This record gives sequence, C-alpha cells and structure tokens, in this order.
Amino acid sequence: MSVRAWSYPVVLTLAAVFGSFAAQDAQAAGDAARGKTLGYTCLGCHGVDGYKNAYPTYSVPKLSGQHPGYIVLALKAYKSGERGHGTMHAHASSMSDQDMEDIAAYFAGTPVKSAPGSAGTGEVPAVVNTVCSACHGKDGVGIMDTYPTLSGQHSDYIERALTDYRSGARRNGIMASFAGQLKPEEIKVVAKYFAKQKPALETLARPQFKATAPAK
Ligand code: HEC
Ligand code: HEC
Repeated sequence: MSVRAWSYPVVLTLAAVFGSFAAQDAQAAGDAARGKTLGYTCLGCHGVDGYKNAYPTYSVPKLSGQHPGYIVLALKAYKSGERGHGTMHAHASSMSDQDMEDIAAYFAGTPVKSAPGSAGTGEVPAVVNTVCSACHGKDGVGIMDTYPTLSGQHSDYIERALTDYRSGARRNGIMASFAGQLKPEEIKVVAKYFAKQKPALETLARPQFKATAPAK
C-alpha cells in the first residue's frame, strides 16, 4: 500500500501516535539541570575521588559516563530492595521516576562510547571473550542503555558486585547465572581487566566538595 492510498484520518492518527511517543521521549530523556540540584547530596560520596564504602570496604562506583538507563534501573533496584544498601535505599526511596531520570541525565553526562571495532586493551580474559562481551563489550562498554558500562570502573567495586550476585545479596536474573559460573580467581582477573579499559568511566569530581557522612 502506498502512502497516498492511506486515508487522511489514518495519517492523522499515526501522526498523533508518533507525536505522543516523541513527547514521552522528551520527558524520558531527563533534565540534567534539575538532576544537578537533586543530586547535590550524592556528591558527598560519588563526587569524591577514591571515596570508600566504610564496611565492607570497597570503592564507591563511578557514575560519570555510565548509561543513564542503567542508572535509573539501579536506583529502582535500591528503592525496591532488589539491591540492598542502607544509604542508597534511603536516597532512592523518596525519588519519583522523573527524579531518577533527571539525576541519571546529570550523572551520566556524555555516556562513554566504544571506539568502532574496539577489541579491548591488553589480553582479553577467555571468559570475557566468550560470555561477558556479548552484553558488556570486549572493552567494557555496555552494548545497550540498560547494560552497565564497566570500563574504568573501580576494580574492587566490580569484584564486590560479582561476589554479591554470586551470593544473592544482589538479585538480578541475568547476572546471577553468569557470576555464579565464575571462580573467585576469575572474578579478580575480569575486575582488573575491565577497570583498565578505555574509554573509562570517571568520578564526577568536585574538588571543592568535602566528604561529610561516612559511607555505610
Ligand atoms: C554515603 C555515601 C553515598 C551517598 C550519599 C550516595 N551514594 Fe550512591 N552508592 C554508594 C555506594 C557505596 C554504592 C555501591 C552500593 C552497592 O554495593 O550496591 C552506591 C551505588 C550507587 C549507584 C549504582 C551504581 C552502579 O554501578 O550500579 C547509583 C546509580 C548511585 N549510587 C546513585 C546515587 C545517587 C543518585 C545519590 C544521591 C541521591 C547517591 N548515590 C548517594 C554510596 C553513596
Ligand atoms: C546477557 C547479558 C549479560 C552478560 C552476558 C553479562 N552481563 Fe553483566 N550485567 C548485565 C546486566 C543487565 C546488568 C545489570 C544488572 C543489575 O541491574 O544489577 C549487569 C551487571 C553487571 C555488573 C555490575 C555493574 C555495576 O555497575 O554495578 C558487573 C560487574 C557485571 N555485570 C559483570 C559481568 C561479567 C564479568 C560478565 C561475564 C562473566 C557479565 N557481566 C555477563 C548483563 C550481562
């Protein structure tokens, strides 16, 4: 059927439908300026380079360059309790979906992108080649907006995340099975590998910002 054969009301209806998708997209994209205001308190931990969670001790994850879609999913998981962490649960509990979108736009900034054909830096561990790269790329850049980027993330945080998926402390249907197959020494190897990849995630550093509350 050619476009010309379509009746006028059908085209109008289609335009309205696409129009409403566009409006939803604009809303879903997140307002980084609003996110900056909402996200100010987050910088006490996420804006301090090398800041550590107190107990157990591991680095606070880097968010700058992350996929915004994944940041939203992570905040929803803290809110629902799928991911347990006292401080993050407290922060996420009071957030609306729009707050999460706006905060994600602010923290993600410009999401890191793979260089075309990137094969990763250094020797690619076998398990990354055969399993992880399908979703996280060989260079650690998540292939979709909802798949986290791992390149340049703190190695001790990656280790912690994989250990939590294995133990069930962090619940996720996809990662539980993949992490469950890793031996503890493999976890160390893949964590070190992804932490060294480029282009790298970064801490949204605010040199003038002093850490106040200890991370728990
Ligand atoms: C007291 C320190 C602290 C504060 C304040 C804090 N965070 Fe976190 N955040 C952490 C730690 C530690 C983790 C890792 C927790 C875990 O193991 O799941 C984390 C994890 C996250 C993650 C998941 C990252 C990933 O790679 O999965 C996101 C997103 C996040 N925080 C956003 C925020 C936002 C937004 C705020 C402010 C509203 C905030 N955080 C405030 C310490 C903090
Ligand atoms: C089928 C796709 C897929 C495969 C294959 C996969 N992952 Fe994931 N990975 C995901 C998704 C989706 C998430 C986000 C889960 C969540 O919300 O907790 C994730 C989360 C992670 C995280 C947590 C990131 C963060 O910021 O907290 C790490 C670390 C990770 N994956 C490492 C690996 C490793 C190592 C492998 C290979 C052994 C692997 N993944 C294989 C899809 C995948």
